Amino acid sequence: MADSHVKMAQTTPQEVIVAVVAGLLAPLLAIVLIVQLVLGFQKEHKPDTSGEAAQQATLSRIKPFAQLAALDASAPKVEKSGQEVYDTACTACHAAGALGAPKFDNKGDWGPRIGKGYDTLIKHAIEGFNQMPARGGNGDLSDVEIARAVAYMANSGGASFKAPEAEAAAPAAAAPAAASSSKPDPAKGKAVFATNCAVCHATGVAGAPKVGDKAAWSARISQGFETLHNHALNGIRGMPAKGGNPNLPDADLVNAVGYLFTEAGGKL
Ligand code: HEC
Ligand code: HEC
Repeated sequence: MADSHVKMAQTTPQEVIVAVVAGLLAPLLAIVLIVQLVLGFQKEHKPDTSGEAAQQATLSRIKPFAQLAALDASAPKVEKSGQEVYDTACTACHAAGALGAPKFDNKGDWGPRIGKGYDTLIKHAIEGFNQMPARGGNGDLSDVEIARAVAYMANSGGASFKAPEAEAAAPAAAAPAAASSSKPDPAKGKAVFATNCAVCHATGVAGAPKVGDKAAWSARISQGFETLHNHALNGIRGMPAKGGNPNLPDADLVNAVGYLFTEAGGKL
């Protein structure tokens, strides 16, 4: 008993934020479920499998997150190791060299890249570089996790980079964050969109305006980019804050909104 009071007293601001987000998410999830239910009834006489599939996708997209947020409320985020990140987010291209990606464990592929230096490689992995998508297309990965994956991969190709511990990486994290509030880059936003927004905005689940649907977007676009970014950041009606992913870096969100904006004919 006494223990739990000690824990309460030590609650960090980060834990408070996670708890608040989890608290906001529960009613949100209830609203989404009710909307899904109503849509489901309306569709009863005219089954639409694509709609159902999309609804299922939404539910499965939201459910693990809700659980995660609930579990996380009392535990700090555990950052993945370089190998874990590589295995989940980078191997798809870097194992076989898809799209010309430098292959894991291949000194010939990595040698010239290692020469650019660890910091440059991290920057390219975070921001994207030619066919290399920003964060490997996975906006959930933190800068530290990316830096660890880069060290793991480059070291397999002959480098001896030292991967950052959680604290040590703070300076590396500061640089890209500063660059993030710059102009939206719709090309980079496309990958962010695919992972974080397509579940609703590809088919129009729960009344989400479909990507590229000029009629659905024209009135929204006239609000201006900043307002739309603000609504995507904080949520509005059926649109969850950051698309339901509180870990999404703002630069990624800006790029994704830029992508939706320009696809519907908006001029940045
Ligand atoms: C969709 C495929 C794809 C995924 C997924 C992917 N990469 Fe890449 N990556 C590439 C390609 C293609 C290149 C080569 C780009 C070039 O040099 O033009 C590359 C290059 C790189 C480079 C070298 C950049 C440079 O400056 O030479 C690093 C570092 C890197 N990737 C890290 C990662 C990490 C870390 C992940 C996982 C979080 C990842 N990549 C996931 C395709 C991918
Ligand atoms: C769970 C479903 C869902 C996800 C995921 C989602 N959205 Fe939305 N979004 C909506 C709905 C529903 C609306 C319409 C809200 C309204 O106007 O009633 C919307 C509206 C928007 C708007 C227009 C806001 C306005 O002021 O008109 C923007 C911009 C937007 N979403 C961006 C995004 C971005 C960027 C992502 C991914 C990072 C994302 N959304 C992910 C459901 C979603």
